[in-house]
Amino acid sequence: MKKNIGSQLALYPMPVTVVGAMNEGKPTWTLVAHVGIIGHDRVLVSLAAPHFINGVIKKTNKLSINMVTEEILSKADFSGSVSGAKTDKSGLFDYEIADGAAPIIKKSPLTMVCSVVDVYNTPNFESFICAIDGTYVEERCLNDAGKIDYRAMKPILFEFPTYEYLRTGDVIGKCLSFKNGVE
Ligand SMILES: Cc1cc2nc3c(=O)[nH]c(=O)nc-3n(C[C@H](O)[C@H](O)[C@H](O)COP(=O)(O)O)c2cc1C
Repeated sequence: MKKNIGSQLALYPMPVTVVGAMNEGKPTWTLVAHVGIIGHDRVLVSLAAPHFINGVIKKTNKLSINMVTEEILSKADFSGSVSGAKTDKSGLFDYEIADGAAPIIKKSPLTMVCSVVDVYNTPNFESFICAIDGTYVEERCLNDAGKIDYRAMKPILFEFPTYEYLRTGDVIGKCLSFKNGVE
């Protein structure tokens, strides 16, 4: 039997990312798990309003969303432990600049470079609604058909209730292959 534990954020696990933005010629990085998809051409980045990176993003209206893997997890975790308002995080990752104004983490296998097209405000949060300008993928994470291969990438997942990182697991089937609905 299920127990109602009240109004809870329960949509986990979800991918954890490092969001990057350029601050007067230098990058700043913030760990963000609350990212989402809107329709088929927009993504959402939900940030607490007092975070340092928010003001930086608003200056250029550009940001990058860098997928986190085990290789960069410890630096990614650090980017979520200190604020750019007090600590300069610009040297944390080797990066390159793409599409004019957003920093790409070289060791992240997948980076989406985005333009902010709207901001949705809720109490104490700003959710940046973004159009996707470019998607930069490590070639080893592309399959023969040129599609992103998340089995090769192994993105890290996050869950809030226990505040833990999870490995991505095995493939259990093709979508729409369970045609008869039998459990
Ligand atoms: C696992 C993890 C996930 C996080 N996810 C988010 C998030 O989705 N949104 C958010 O606003 N802050 C999130 N944070 C907190 C920020 O990363 C953290 O407060 C950071 O220091 C803010 O940096 P800034 O002030 O330089 O922008 C997360 C932190 C951790 C450790």
